[in-house]
Formats: sequence, structure tokens, C-alpha cells
Amino acid sequence: MGNTLEKIKVEHLTYRYPFTERNVLEDITFTINQGECVGIIGRNGSGKSTLCYALSGLVPSFFKGKYSGTVYIDGIDIRHIPPEERVKKVGIIFQNPFSQISGAKMSVYEEVAFGLENIGIEKEEMVKRIEEVLKKFNLWDKKDENPFELSGGQLQRLAIASMLALKPEILILDEPTSQLDPQGTNEVYETISKLREDGMTIVIVDHKYEKLVEYVDKIIFLHDGKIVAYDKPEKIFSLPEIEEYKIGEPYQTMICKKYGLKNKESLYPVRFLEAVEVLRGAQIEWEL
Ligand SMILES: Nc1ncnc2c1ncn2[C@@H]1O[C@H](COP(=O)(O)OP(=O)(O)OP(=O)(O)O)[C@@H](O)[C@H]1O
Ligand SMILES: [Mg+2]
Repeated sequence: MGNTLEKIKVEHLTYRYPFTERNVLEDITFTINQGECVGIIGRNGSGKSTLCYALSGLVPSFFKGKYSGTVYIDGIDIRHIPPEERVKKVGIIFQNPFSQISGAKMSVYEEVAFGLENIGIEKEEMVKRIEEVLKKFNLWDKKDENPFELSGGQLQRLAIASMLALKPEILILDEPTSQLDPQGTNEVYETISKLREDGMTIVIVDHKYEKLVEYVDKIIFLHDGKIVAYDKPEKIFSLPEIEEYKIGEPYQTMICKKYGLKNKESLYPVRFLEAVEVLRGAQIEWEL
């Protein structure tokens, strides 16, 4: 049995979708500890969503294809965890909240109940959990509304709430804010922040780097299905070769780079307040 802190361990994972000629994940190895919050970045088609599917077991249980290597959750090969146990361990939120919502339920309350019924939770426990998650995500006053009447941010929060009612230990969010306006994006990140404080292990794919870097401990940088680097965000965005990959960077990092301003660890700042601090301390003749 591995280190008990190791919540997710991926070893030499290589994967190819059925009827295709190319590996979309190639020799992926990394570990995520209990309670860590990890971002995944990379250009379109680099394999971020596919990696999310592999971490939740959808690859290879739903998406077949050629699979080698192993994904361990709590030291157990994910392929050996039965589906009903798997959903209690790993929850996944897909990019589009509409594809997450069952569409069959007339109210927010029933939507959350739906997932719980599917895993056979007792009525009494169900009522308790529904109230708990809806209150936690500020959706209690919306409990009788039709899910499709909600705003994008509320709908995404409902998708997350429905998932969390199942009490997973790991939450995977694949571009949870891509369909959302700034208000909705903030709502989702506030939710993520609460979960992080509760000690949940979280994996997030997001192109909105300014937001992502404020919340993650580490970032997996994928390119063509391979891991280029797995490190703290400031290390990732300070990599000398990062420019070649044309993945962009947080605005504040871009400004610091423009003026060659680094932090005490000789890295470019990524978080907003740290960048402000470094900029304040610098003597810059601003070009306006
Ligand atoms: N079901 C599938 N069958 C065959 N190929 C697929 C399938 N889904 C994705 N791919 C291919 O696998 C590669 C990785 O796709 P994936 O969706 O994981 O990338 P991504 O990094 O999430 O991209 P994006 O930023 O656009 O969401 C791409 O080349 C894609 O075309
Ligand atoms: Mg994707």
C-alpha cells in the first residue's frame, strides 16, 4: 500500500481512443496528495479532458480504447473499483453544466435527489444531504425552481452541489467556468475555495489563468498528451521554454515579465497581490 497521503497516483498512463492512430495521453506519471488543489493547463487538444476522464475512471470504463499504465485512487487501481463505489470517491463536473443536469427533473431539489436515489441513499439521509448542499451553495431559496430557469453560475453551482451530495473525496472540474460570465466564474471559484478549506482533493482545468493561479497548489502542464512540467504555478510560468508553447500566462505575470520583475525566490509572480507587491517595489518608468 502506498503513502496514505497519496490520494491520486498515476503511473505511466498511456491512452488512445478507439479507432484512432495516436496516443492522446503518453506515459503520464504524477501524484496528488490528500487535500491538494491541482490545475491542469495546456492548449486545445493537449489531453486535459481525457486526463480528467482517466482520473474519474470514465477512461477506460466508458471510453474504451488502448490503455496502459495505472491510475490509483487511495492506492487502488481505479479499474478495480466498482462504478457505484467510484462515484463516491471521485466526482467529475463536465465543461457544460447543461450536460450535467439530468433534464428529467422539474426542480432544483429533485435534481439533487436524483443522483442520491441512483446510489440508493435512504430517504432520511437524502433529505439531510439535499438541505445541506443547497444551503452551502446558496441555492436553498431556489429549491422549487426549474433548473433551466437558473443563471449559468447558479446552474453550474447546482451541478457541483448535486455531485457533492454524493460526498466524493475527490472533485474534478473540467473548465467549470468556460460558459460563465465574471459573476458566475466568481461564484464557482468561491465554491471551490470552500471545498478546499474543507480539505477536499481538487483537480481543475481552466484557461482563465488569473483565477486558477489564485487557488491551486500546483499545475500540471500538458502538451500533446505529455507532461511538460508539474510544479508550483510560479515555477510553471517562469519556465524559460514556456514561450515556445504559446499557452499564455496570467496578465499580472505578463506585466512582471515585461519589466523583468521577479519575487524573492527569483520567479515571476503569478498571484495578483504578489505581483502588485513586486510592482510596487520596482522603479518603473511606465510607458503609457
Ligand atoms: N471520443 C474521442 N474519440 C477520438 N478522439 C478523441 C475523442 N475525444 C477527444 N479526442 C482527441 O483526443 C485529443 C485530446 O482531446 P481532449 O479533449 O482531451 O483535449 P483538451 O486538452 O481537453 O482540449 P480542449 O482544450 O479543447 O478542451 C484531441 O486530439 C481530440 O481530438
Ligand atoms: Mg477539454
